[in-house]
Amino acid sequence: MTDTITITDNRSGKTVTVPITGGVFSSAALRELDPNLFMYDPAYLSTAACASSITYLDGENGILRYRGIPIEQLAEHSSFLETAYLLLNGDLPTADQLAKWQYDVTHHTMIHENMRKRFVDGFHYDAHPMGMFISATAALGTFYDDAKDIFDKDSLDKQILRLVAKVPTIAAMCYRFSQGLPFVSPDNALSYGENFLNMMFKIGDDYAVHPTLARAMDILFILHADHEQNCGTTAMRVVSSANADPYTATSAAASALYGPLHGGANEAVVRMLSEIGTIDNVPAFIEGVKNGDAKLMGFGHRVYKNFDPRATIIKKTAYEVFEVTGKNPLLDIALKLEETALKDEYFVKRKLYPNVDFYSGLIYQALGFPVDMFTVLFAIPRTVGWLAHMQELLSDKDQKISRPRQWYTGVDTRDYTPIAKR
Ligand code: ACO
Repeated sequence: MTDTITITDNRSGKTVTVPITGGVFSSAALRELDPNLFMYDPAYLSTAACASSITYLDGENGILRYRGIPIEQLAEHSSFLETAYLLLNGDLPTADQLAKWQYDVTHHTMIHENMRKRFVDGFHYDAHPMGMFISATAALGTFYDDAKDIFDKDSLDKQILRLVAKVPTIAAMCYRFSQGLPFVSPDNALSYGENFLNMMFKIGDDYAVHPTLARAMDILFILHADHEQNCGTTAMRVVSSANADPYTATSAAASALYGPLHGGANEAVVRMLSEIGTIDNVPAFIEGVKNGDAKLMGFGHRVYKNFDPRATIIKKTAYEVFEVTGKNPLLDIALKLEETALKDEYFVKRKLYPNVDFYSGLIYQALGFPVDMFTVLFAIPRTVGWLAHMQELLSDKDQKISRPRQWYTGVDTRDYTPIAKR
């Protein structure tokens, strides 16, 4: 059997045969048949918009690898900054490379005072931190006159370093503003995760980040660092394809992530669990989901149709966190929901399993984060993945400005009617 596909256009009788490589064939085959023939593929269910060597995902078998390394190994052995280096550079760093990367990130965590005093202070007191984060990442780019030099490798590397280093500072700043708390400066003696928790929660001089909680933060960051062509990353690539600067593109990707079907799901999970209230209400809630009254948030995934490997790691991490913080009271409801859904024909038939968001919200809440911050916590590590995709896109000779075609279904042609005659 040859790895080719033959397509016949029955209107013209023309036939084209093209190779299938890695389960993919080029859409150039269709253009050969008829340059005006397009595939109708809403939500890109059957379209590979790029070739990528960053993240491998096999949804049927629950496999996720960054640059070939299984997510389980990274969650166990790596740190977030080491994983970030891997994603951005293609290989794990040597000890020297890691030391330099950690030093550089640590020494770029400060942001311009105007960002806080003039920009963030201008928000309404109850502004959503994700709305602030999206605006602040775009605004950050205006402080660097080299932000737009995206085809100068040194400049692009510099912007990437700045963004990776500064997104935790921005996130913590937005939170502190929303709480009316004074801003805590980055501390160069702390690791990436520790520094973030310190900037978030430090009140008084005796605050120290618990090592288990810092490690949990790091693991959560590792698990969220990339996930190939999801909605936010696609937004990053589309905006980057117009050669926008990395700050603006990151802001666009973060905007996509803000949606409740994407990064907003972990926030929605905790709200859902709080609304369910007690274990006794679980069966009625599940019946409601089956009747279409609500979605079971944190369940289902476009690609994972077996299990989400990140959910398995997160569940284990949740128990480690609860050892320190005490159990999140919503955990029992989550466990009951999971148990009930996994046995229910409706969810089994549709291959709906817990996704990364089902348990992450419970950990975030136990760590002390308000639900409004959950999507921001997702955006911090995902910034690394977005930037890795931007880098890859900019060096990919096959890529051009994104510009999908449409299937026009509107009125063919008609004359303008003066308003008096309508
Ligand atoms: N609860 C109840 N039913 C669901 C759920 C759910 N969470 N997810 C999917 N279904 C049902 C759909 O209604 C559909 O049923 P039907 O065949 O009777 O019409 C079927 O399962 C297939 O669902 P689709 O919507 O076609 O699946 P799709 O791949 O488009 O959606 C998505 C994936 C958006 C993640 C969806 O499962 C969902 O909305 N889940 C809840 C939100 C969520 O947890 N999002 C986080 C995703 S992970 C992330 O972004 C990091």
